[in-house]
Amino acid sequence: MSTAQKPIHKRDDTVELRITDIAESDRWYGELPDGRGVFVRGPAAIDDEVRAQIIGEKRRYLEARLVEVISPSSKRVPPVCSHFGVCGGCKCQHLDYSEQLRLKHLKVENALKRIGQFNDISVASPIPSDHQTHYRNKIEFSFSDKRYLIKDGDALVGESRLKPRDFALGFHAPRIFDKIVDIDYCHIATPNMNKILDIVKEFSKTMKLPPYSTRKHEGYLRHLVIREVQSDNQLMVNLVTSVYDEKIVRLLADRLIEEIGSGFTTLVNNLTSRKSEVSKGEKEVVVYGPGYITESLGGYRFRLSADSFFQTNTAQAEHLLKVITKLARLSQSDIVYDLYCGAGAFTITLSSLCRKILGIETVATAVADAQSNAKLNGVGNCEFLQGDLNKPSRLTACVEDFGRPDVVILDPPRAGVHPKTVGFLLSLCPARIVYVSCNPASLARDSLTICSEGNYEMQSVQPIDMFPFTNHIESVALIVRKDEPQAGDTRGTIPNTA
Ligand SMILES: C[S@@+](CC[C@H](N)C(=O)[O-])C[C@H]1O[C@@H](n2cnc3c(N)ncnc32)[C@H](O)[C@@H]1O
Repeated sequence: MSTAQKPIHKRDDTVELRITDIAESDRWYGELPDGRGVFVRGPAAIDDEVRAQIIGEKRRYLEARLVEVISPSSKRVPPVCSHFGVCGGCKCQHLDYSEQLRLKHLKVENALKRIGQFNDISVASPIPSDHQTHYRNKIEFSFSDKRYLIKDGDALVGESRLKPRDFALGFHAPRIFDKIVDIDYCHIATPNMNKILDIVKEFSKTMKLPPYSTRKHEGYLRHLVIREVQSDNQLMVNLVTSVYDEKIVRLLADRLIEEIGSGFTTLVNNLTSRKSEVSKGEKEVVVYGPGYITESLGGYRFRLSADSFFQTNTAQAEHLLKVITKLARLSQSDIVYDLYCGAGAFTITLSSLCRKILGIETVATAVADAQSNAKLNGVGNCEFLQGDLNKPSRLTACVEDFGRPDVVILDPPRAGVHPKTVGFLLSLCPARIVYVSCNPASLARDSLTICSEGNYEMQSVQPIDMFPFTNHIESVALIVRKDEPQAGDTRGTIPNTA
């Protein structure tokens, strides 16, 4: 490397720059006066003038962390949460809601252009969330014997000085597996969930219950998972512990009944001896109430047990369903596949609009939930198949039995669709694919493969904000077979969402 190419800035140096763009992986972007790009970690905003410390040097750019905002952007608002910046959950709380939506829109557009090469697609503006706080119908807190401590140099600051160090109930500190930020109040959880957080903390401390240590693999308390149907006064508490202690969980049920009243409807105790940090138990004991709650979507009822998957923002799930329905343009003669169907939320809600619909899902309990939910709603034209979509050769016999689909709904996990599954999808040759995605990068990559390897084109993309304050965005893309007659929108009907 010649002297002229040598970087002027070294690790730990401090630089000043203006933030001009948002980048992947929770980073912001700006340039130094010499034109060198800098990716900055931390809660910055576009138009902030910042001071940042270099933490990594690459040949063409620098990595840095935000140290100080010298001149704040007009897009900033005061964060509502006292844990902002420490808790890894809500990364965009310092941004005005319209700016959050603008950046999410940009994120989808950028991914589709840069990763998917969809340069001509016009991405619709995101549908805003009806509620920006208290919108989650499920929240999962973890216990730890190591509270995450906030230090300034060697000194502890803020709450770190006041609370016990060996007990925490809250969320993981970003990138730290064995420490938990002790949460006082979570603004995206409901008020009742926060009340239960307080009650369980106080109960655990009074009873001297030991939190589980992920280093030593000992202790009793592991997770606290709460589900609430706010529109119908139902509240489920799932205490996940390492062993069963009947006396403790019965006392907890009594305490919740006393403090919450009739709004608290069920307590379950999941037991797990696994070393991994997963809140799913190997065994479940129903301590109080029926052991499930019942959610509504599209006018249908869904019985959810502690581990059932369900969209976490119920109000936005209604918008999501309307978008899927509009794009799918189902007719009563259509055969539909709902791939990655979970507990059958879309399979069941779309069933009345088509001839028959097949849901495919790998998790056995989700398939069992889907089957019982279809029964609960008296739906007769749904079938569910437990199968791994990464191994599609095992599914072909079933496909021949059920019939090839006219329309496929695709809602994979964040990582997107396995290449073998894309091959399977193309072999099904549906007229329309409605791809629902919580990860714009996966959506862009998979859609590119579908359109370049198959005779398909992407026609529209509608983002929906399911997760205000966070940088996550849901999108629904319509991918159409090129020889499909371009019907008007005459076949789509909005389902009953009363
Ligand atoms: C984003 S969720 C979608 C759930 C459903 N569409 C809903 O809205 O309720 C993705 C689902 O894909 C399932 N899944 C993940 N990998 C799978 C695979 N290889 N084969 C089949 N299903 C899979 C997960 O268990 C999960 O239920």
